[in-house]
Amino acid sequence: MKLFDVYPLFDIEIVKGSGCRVYDSNGREYIDMYGGHAVISIGHSHPRQVEAIRRQVGELMFYSNSVRNPIQERLAEKLGQASGYDDYALFLVNSGAEANENALKLASFKTGKKGVVAFRHAFHGRTSAAVEATDNPRIVAPINDNSHVTFLPLNDLSAVESRLNEGDISAIIIEGIQGVGGIVVPDDNFMKGLRNLATKYGSVLILDEIQSGYGRTGRFFAHQYADIRPDIITCAKGIANGYPMGAVLISPDFEPEYGQLGTTFGGNHLACVAACAVLDVFEEEGVLENVNEVGAYLKSRLMELPGIKEVRGRGLMLGIEFEFPVKELRRSLIEDEHVFTGASGTHIIRLLPPLVLDKWTADEFLARFSRALKKYNTTQNN
Ligand SMILES: Cc1ncc(COP(=O)(O)O)c(C=O)c1O
Repeated sequence: MKLFDVYPLFDIEIVKGSGCRVYDSNGREYIDMYGGHAVISIGHSHPRQVEAIRRQVGELMFYSNSVRNPIQERLAEKLGQASGYDDYALFLVNSGAEANENALKLASFKTGKKGVVAFRHAFHGRTSAAVEATDNPRIVAPINDNSHVTFLPLNDLSAVESRLNEGDISAIIIEGIQGVGGIVVPDDNFMKGLRNLATKYGSVLILDEIQSGYGRTGRFFAHQYADIRPDIITCAKGIANGYPMGAVLISPDFEPEYGQLGTTFGGNHLACVAACAVLDVFEEEGVLENVNEVGAYLKSRLMELPGIKEVRGRGLMLGIEFEFPVKELRRSLIEDEHVFTGASGTHIIRLLPPLVLDKWTADEFLARFSRALKKYNTTQNN
């Protein structure tokens, strides 16, 4: 059997990871400034997490959600404390799309409505309702195209209000910072306005913090910069540092009902142990403080480099926009400088390194990045 060929691949086999570095099958070391799509939060193979997972595997990997799972309860308590949402309830799933799918369902159950407001260039995942709320027709199959979602421009409150005024909107869904869309930070006042409008029109405000949350921007959630409290928050990516997991944080205004939501694997023992270890490390190693310090340093140093149009983002979620397509620069970063980065669209390099990135590694990245940039500019001018 062959693999279903949907991923354009770099011809590199990563076999090992440690902290902010990964190693290929030839023993070559790379700086990981992408965290495998923002998934690595406390660093590759953090010893504390490895040990916790190893211990749990030897005891029990999985049992179903039909019995009490004290590790889920421990995770809920820790996450409530770490995020400032200890009065919210936690529903555990397996991925980001599944978290958004459940959030949109909850909103629809609560309001009895079907309409959704999402924003231009939004990405919310690839399952049915989540992909319908994703502004990319290429990945929306006819079966997902049900005209439930209206895409509006970011930061345009009056457009949101006129749409809500039609009376059929169950949810407004928005990323804390748009990731796939190009590291676009919504205005804090726009976020505050969305909160007010959702309350005024009886719609549910869903904050997709799958990429921007879990400490990535230096606050636990990116929306906390705007000082608002959404009705539902979704997380995944860094929650378990590479173990597949997603989460829905649900405000006390929602009344749970037996059987309304469910999943076989969501919140399994192994995932919960992996996620608890992440929050232990956040606390013990001052991960948020590190994101603030190293993120600010990296951003300011990047802004000093010539030939860059704009550096955007918060903490360790940074977008570097160029006047030219970045495909060749990214290739050179990987093949010549041994640095993994991501991209958004054609002109933006996306940095989503492990949240434990230290200044020394940031400096090493900056040196390699300037060298690749210089080389790119020289070859273009010849
Ligand atoms: C903001 C956002 N929402 C949802 C998702 C979907 O997450 P997953 O790929 O885990 O389904 C992603 C993934 O990139 C994302 O960035």
